Amino acid sequence: MNSTIVITGDDKGLHINKNIYGHFSEHLGRCIYGGIWTGKDSKIPNVEGYRQDVLEALQRIKVPVLRWPGGCFADEYHWKDGIGPYEKRPSMINTHWGGVVENNHFGTHEFMRYCELLGAEPYINGNVGSGTVREMSEWVEYMTFDGDSPMSRERKTNGRDKPWKVKYFGVGNENWGCGGNMRPEYYADVYRQYQTYVRSYGENKVFKIACGTSGHDMYWTEVLMKQAGKFFNGLSMHNYTWFSEDGTWDNKLQATGLTERTWAIILTKAVEMDRLITAHSTIMDMYDPEKKVEMIVDEWGTWFKTEPGTNPGFLYQQNTICDALVAALHFHIFHKHADRVKMANIAQTVNVLQAVILTEGDKMVKTPTYHVFEMFTPHQDAQALSINVETGNWTTDGYTLPSVDASASKDKNGTIHISLVNLHPSEQQKITIDVRGLAVKGFGVKGKILAGNSLDQHNTFDNPENLVPQNFTGISSEGTKISVTLPARSVSMLEVK
Ligand code: AHR
Repeated sequence: MNSTIVITGDDKGLHINKNIYGHFSEHLGRCIYGGIWTGKDSKIPNVEGYRQDVLEALQRIKVPVLRWPGGCFADEYHWKDGIGPYEKRPSMINTHWGGVVENNHFGTHEFMRYCELLGAEPYINGNVGSGTVREMSEWVEYMTFDGDSPMSRERKTNGRDKPWKVKYFGVGNENWGCGGNMRPEYYADVYRQYQTYVRSYGENKVFKIACGTSGHDMYWTEVLMKQAGKFFNGLSMHNYTWFSEDGTWDNKLQATGLTERTWAIILTKAVEMDRLITAHSTIMDMYDPEKKVEMIVDEWGTWFKTEPGTNPGFLYQQNTICDALVAALHFHIFHKHADRVKMANIAQTVNVLQAVILTEGDKMVKTPTYHVFEMFTPHQDAQALSINVETGNWTTDGYTLPSVDASASKDKNGTIHISLVNLHPSEQQKITIDVRGLAVKGFGVKGKILAGNSLDQHNTFDNPENLVPQNFTGISSEGTKISVTLPARSVSMLEVK
């Protein structure tokens, strides 16, 4: 099959905010404990208690922003339990996630230091569901107040003299569900109350994020925009890619063992994100035509059945070439909506849901999703370019999808990056790309490609390099035209200079 892509010099002024490549790490399963944090006394090589292998892998993909401590966990987290000497930190039951005992060893200081090591902006999610206004207010004071106050004194006693910079602060999480089962009208008022006491001290200007919709609930967005819109800078949105034959949550598909039919279904569910963003943006536009309120997609990714033999409350799943395509398609959608979507956070960084990294004891693997994050780093903070993709569709069992999807950007040095996805489960695609009206010098093209040899190729602890990006050979160019053949089930990234 042949496809044609035309990229023009018209950059529409759309900036791809690097925070679209953000992450989410919750106290859930082995994301924090065993994934990010081992403690200093661990035999697993660590830097100040953070797993060294994971830290280095995350540094490589330039994590721009990290959301913490949840998720559902955020609305039962009491931050004061996570500061001070470890032996004095009280434990709690993590009721949402496996009922395990949380020792609170990873708290505010540990999170903020991790962000420093990563070079990532912290995004803290406060507790509305079971916390008080005072508790939330004091957390912000503890972290960001520069003068002398009860909270800043306590922070200093705990070893941190200077305040941290905390820009992003979420006022509750999924307050329509695990965060308090509230109605939108009620949450809108509660939001207005809580946010009043989330203060910007000194130079630290807090960017307030209200809890948004679960993908399909348009009414929630409408009420929030109408009743509280002038009190927030960002409105969140969560949407997961999942499927079960009987529509029940419990019978979701397993990450591995996909057929052409379930491959098509998962990709169909993934591209629904485009429609959802359009629908919510349209409502936001009614109340905020100047697009001052940013859409923050702070949870997205695949949600498969947990791996056999693992704690169902830990949400540990395998990650395959299909996840890699889901990630790439999401990034393309976020680029397209870059005027409204300014941050997105994959759920979740390590060992949970669509993780970029899996660990087992001292072993670590980078998942296919990780490789997409790495290949796509040049899109971070680049200008989105106008792109027109003419491609055929393919249909399996009533599910119809385009064969090829693409996105292009220009970085600050004028280098163009074109990311390409071949969604077809079995056929390669010949593509001609016409790069018009751009001052590219000499037209040197090179690329990387991640292509699955099956519908569920993945990496394992015994074979961690089973699926890794390869140099993309066979690219030819003439005049302004580039020709490539994309193997089935692949994600690639071209660099045009
Ligand atoms: O990411 C797992 C959970 O999914 C989060 O805790 C919650 O916000 C969402 O329902």
